[in-house]
Amino acid sequence: MQHISSTLGVPDTSYVPQHVAIIMDGNGRWATQRHLPRIAGHNRGLDAVRAVVEASAARGVQFLTLFAFSSENWRRPADEVSFLMRLFMTALRREVVKMHANNIRLRVVGDLSRFSPRIQQLIADAEARTARNTGLTVTIAANYGGRWDLLQAMRKMLARQPMLDPETIDESVLAPHLAMAYAPEPDLFIRTGGEQRISNFLLWQLAYSELYFTDTYWPDFDAAELDKAFASYRQRERRFGRTSAQLVAPGLSGTA
Ligand code: FPP
Repeated sequence: MQHISSTLGVPDTSYVPQHVAIIMDGNGRWATQRHLPRIAGHNRGLDAVRAVVEASAARGVQFLTLFAFSSENWRRPADEVSFLMRLFMTALRREVVKMHANNIRLRVVGDLSRFSPRIQQLIADAEARTARNTGLTVTIAANYGGRWDLLQAMRKMLARQPMLDPETIDESVLAPHLAMAYAPEPDLFIRTGGEQRISNFLLWQLAYSELYFTDTYWPDFDAAELDKAFASYRQRERRFGRTSAQLVAPGLSGTA
């Protein structure tokens, strides 16, 4: 399905955000604050993932995208990286069964070539198993980077049409090759853990997303915290470049 681009048109907005994208930050600090090893924070982070997936499905969100591992996270100490990989494998094995039982579709985006063949196989199995589910789509961004996504989209676009005239390249030519072309642009972007950065997440798709930052560390983020973010989202006036007056009386003041 082709979704409306926020720069070419005005997407529909709804009471509950259709697509929520989250940077799950603060696992390490949550653990350090409790004199625990950082990996304890990641373990609790997985509990928070479970809670937020359940709450999102219950509230009617259609797409939930979670930044689990960025292309820059490989720079972490080797033992933390390998713990995260093991956690990822455990989650793929265990959680997918529950997700499937709840009609949830799982997708993974990112440069998967750097993951072990075992993880790549688990990802492929999980995606295939849940491919026909029609409820919430949970996308895990793993070894993902917004710049990587734009570059791989350009490569695919040119591989498909090597003689492409540069003048004919517009959004509709490039966007179908982005890793998340199957989803509308995020309505709401959430980052936990106090930092106010995009950190190379969905650079193209966040053009008109509402941004919500909270100091809450990811392991403490739960259904009540999600509701706070949704309450903030409902206060926002999504103008997509228009004036407030145009929103009140859309027909009166032109389309510019
Ligand atoms: C950021 O916190 C978190 C990560 C890099 C890993 C995210 C992983 C999970 C939430 C658990 C597994 C999830 C799935 C989907 C399998 P940080 O370590 O950067 O925290 P800090 O900024 O306090 O150090």
